[in-house]
Amino acid sequence: MSKEKETNTKITKSKKGVSKMMYFTTPIYYVNDAPHIGHVFTTVNADFLTRFYKSLGYDTYFLTGTDEHGQKIAKAAQQANKTPREFTDTIVPKFFDVLNKMHIEINHFIRTTDPEHEALVQKWFQKFYDNGDIYKGKYKGKYCVDCEGYYGDDELLPGDLCPNHKKPVSVMEEETYFFKLSKYEFYVKELFAKKDFILPEKYKGEAHQRLSQGLKDVSISRKSTDWGVKVPFDKEHVVWVWFDALINYISGLQGKEQYWPATHILGKDIFWFHAVLWPAMLKAMNYEPPRFFVHGWWTTNGTKMSKSLNNFIPPETLTKYGVDEARYFLLRQMPCGEDSDFNSKFFEERYLELSNTVGNLINRVAIIAQKNYIDLTKDYPIEKSIQIEIDKTIKEVKDDLDSFKVQGAIMKIMSLGQFLNKYTNDTEPWKLVKTNKEKASVVVYNLVLGINLLTLLLEPCMPEKMKEARKIFRFKAEKITDIYILSTKKIKPEKVLEIEPKILFPMIIKFEF
Ligand code: MSP
Repeated sequence: MSKEKETNTKITKSKKGVSKMMYFTTPIYYVNDAPHIGHVFTTVNADFLTRFYKSLGYDTYFLTGTDEHGQKIAKAAQQANKTPREFTDTIVPKFFDVLNKMHIEINHFIRTTDPEHEALVQKWFQKFYDNGDIYKGKYKGKYCVDCEGYYGDDELLPGDLCPNHKKPVSVMEEETYFFKLSKYEFYVKELFAKKDFILPEKYKGEAHQRLSQGLKDVSISRKSTDWGVKVPFDKEHVVWVWFDALINYISGLQGKEQYWPATHILGKDIFWFHAVLWPAMLKAMNYEPPRFFVHGWWTTNGTKMSKSLNNFIPPETLTKYGVDEARYFLLRQMPCGEDSDFNSKFFEERYLELSNTVGNLINRVAIIAQKNYIDLTKDYPIEKSIQIEIDKTIKEVKDDLDSFKVQGAIMKIMSLGQFLNKYTNDTEPWKLVKTNKEKASVVVYNLVLGINLLTLLLEPCMPEKMKEARKIFRFKAEKITDIYILSTKKIKPEKVLEIEPKILFPMIIKFEF
């Protein structure tokens, strides 16, 4: 496990002993509409990583929430004939609902309308002003309300269309407060040169050209809307929604700042605000820089899924063949940092993979052990090939996760499953038991041990399904570290007293979304 990759891991000493800390966040979601696959994907990624590091013995904190201020939300509220607050109160429960349905386990849900958050935004704004990081001026520019951001002429598509939403931008001229981003240009460039600041690395390349043009000061207050956090020393202005929103990553810690710095998980469309503006704001407040895990988009026939194009998959459809099956599909299907098409054929391939590699293996081994009365309370020797495969899998999976290669990590876990299937086929325990029960018992014991680890490794991806799988053998371990010591690679097998075979991924004739 490479040390330099764990840049955002803190090691702290507490009464419980020494523990490593990890803080994962999702972007906070706009509440102009109900959640869709994009929101679900980012959140499932963060949930998976949090659960995995927890299983490896880390002390973790996982934050998600909603971004509720700004013109975009005010406009949506107006269309719904509600005040912004009434409107956001009707949408937020839908996000909670998705968290529950998708088996997401968070430490805190932040809303930017929480008084504690608003107070912190005002505190930061005042401090920036007092320190000379903020000044008053006039801004004229082309604004996309959907992005809540200004664009330069060179960034717009022909016809002055927003590059993200393909909609016309509007010209805005207003008195505003500026944040001196230009002052932090050198600092931000230094961060971009740092290994593992942004993963995958290719996103650095994309930002490089924009960075090389230099950083301009950013307009961070609005007079054109009053739906936002009031600027503490000038009540005519509200804080620009992005400036307000980014601070959630600190206010959402609810004082538990020992977890900082964060690993922020986000989609490529909101990478610039995060990787350039946020680290500068943090530097101005004397915080260490975070790191960024950037993912691509889910597409339909190559086009980004979005509400506005009405080509998105709602969470209810996504989970048609099971929640954990959907989680597996999302995490296993999308290559690190790339876009991925969603279709029934891909879903079917992934489902069959689960059924063949995991479901059949577990059911087969459970039946052999049960039918032949294999005594799994005894201590048999651990086969060298099994030990080697387990060591290799855990090391490679951890390395992949440290570099946000979620798909790679899942494929490596599944390789352990394939190895155990091959081991079963090669050793033929159902035949061996007739000639040499002791030898057959060693084989089954090793297979059960492999399944114990396989299901623990898959649990962060499919928490409920793997709980069901582990019930088959009544496994008691809750974390990878309960049966595997990372530093010494020592495996601590569990005794199995009772087995109840079960089909985990039943046959499905036709997949259709
Ligand atoms: N509110 C801002 C974030 C502020 S964070 C300080 C925002 N919200 S959002 O609701 O529009 O988007 C949230 C996330 O959903 C982003 O990470 C975005 O990339 C992701 N997705 C939206 N559509 C997507 C797909 N089609 N595919 C994958 N993720 C995409 O931006």
